[in-house]
Amino acid sequence: METKRASWASNLGFLMAAIGSAVGLGNIWGFPYKMGKSGGFAYLAVYALLAIFVGFIVMASELAMGRKTGQGAMGTYHALTKKFRWIGWLALFSPFAVMGFYAVLGGYCIEYMALNLSNFAFGSESLATGGELFAAMLSNPAGAVLFAALFLALCYLINRSGISGGIEKFNNVGMPTLFVMLVVIIIRSLTLPGAEAGVSFYLSPDPSKLEKTGLFPVINAAMNQAFFTLSVGIGAMCIFGSYQSRDRSLTGEAMWIMGLDTFVALMAGLIIFPACFAFGVEPGAGPGLVFVTLPNIFNVMAGGRLWGTLFFIFMSFAALSTVIAVFENIISYSADVWGMERRRATWLHAVGIWLFSLPCALGFNLLAGFQPLGPGTSVLDLEDFLISNNILPLGGLFFLLFCCLRRGWGWDNFIAEVDQGTGMKFPRWLRGYVTYVLPCLIIFVFVMGYVDKFCK
Ligand code: PHE
Repeated sequence: METKRASWASNLGFLMAAIGSAVGLGNIWGFPYKMGKSGGFAYLAVYALLAIFVGFIVMASELAMGRKTGQGAMGTYHALTKKFRWIGWLALFSPFAVMGFYAVLGGYCIEYMALNLSNFAFGSESLATGGELFAAMLSNPAGAVLFAALFLALCYLINRSGISGGIEKFNNVGMPTLFVMLVVIIIRSLTLPGAEAGVSFYLSPDPSKLEKTGLFPVINAAMNQAFFTLSVGIGAMCIFGSYQSRDRSLTGEAMWIMGLDTFVALMAGLIIFPACFAFGVEPGAGPGLVFVTLPNIFNVMAGGRLWGTLFFIFMSFAALSTVIAVFENIISYSADVWGMERRRATWLHAVGIWLFSLPCALGFNLLAGFQPLGPGTSVLDLEDFLISNNILPLGGLFFLLFCCLRRGWGWDNFIAEVDQGTGMKFPRWLRGYVTYVLPCLIIFVFVMGYVDKFCK
């Protein structure tokens, strides 16, 4: 079944939107600290292999299924199969799960940006340290809830205007702006005195770090990161494929998306680590790197409030371009399958996602006593675990199996769709690997991830 519907105004628009979906907090926040912590270049090598031999392949299969049917993940499974329709329901639930915590993090970015901006504009006698700032923000339920609402309101304003009028327009301006901001901030960071030490900490291979963390946990973290940062496993790419024309091969497009996403992730580290070393700040701070360590640096560097504002605008943009992509999945489903009017669907779902985000927003304050994964953990940790360790790899596995196996869509159909148009073709010799080895690899890493998390 092939359906005619809205489409991208240009191929560049499609690429920008897909890259916008992939480039998000996972790149700027997640990748650098994991790479810094788990062995610099050694981690990068493991990650790059998994991005190519796992993430890229799942991405190509999602794009192909979307383009074939002209539908989002849910509609795609419904169009292509009777037996496996239930997977579509998973694909409808997953975007809610991702956005539930992403909206809260996006809200934090806007809040930080506002704080930096007001300090920049009005000045402030004594600046709180990054740690104090972050703790104050987490402990304030009203702030978290309201900024998540503000973040979703921005998404609403973009999504309600549709694919080419909303998402594509935003990304055509937003993505180049994001790249320019990235370059400007990197130059600032690299020209700080003492920055070289940070570059070599970040990029030089240090097998001892890898040994300390252990090879398996590194593979596990890199695999989860590959799914998360490439936005694969929940149909976010499927929906983008559904609006794409048949002029270009999807294999080539998937390569571009993966390459640029990895490039931005790598570059984000060039902002963070040189700055850490220039100001003698502990670089192995883990997830606190962006929300605690960087604000400390902005507090003391010349023009820091301006740089801080710019950095958090950059983060907010990256978060926005990601969420509008995931949001589109649910909106298009309501429009395609239930015939709901777009604007109505957009605001209804925005409110739904906001409600869904409340447990995460309140998890650090009113619900702080609820520590689902053990002492010191929060609702955010639980949601992150559910998504990164479960929903994305399993969702990716379903897409993959469905594409390759005869009982699903079938290898030949997949190849015919993914390669239609000009551009790079999918390597045929990967058939055995994609059909048999890769699914086993995903299952193995998935199971071992549980063993690692709960049996130690
Ligand atoms: N890729 C996004 C990031 O790096 C997150 C994301 C995950 C988006 C899964 C959609 C689906 O931040």
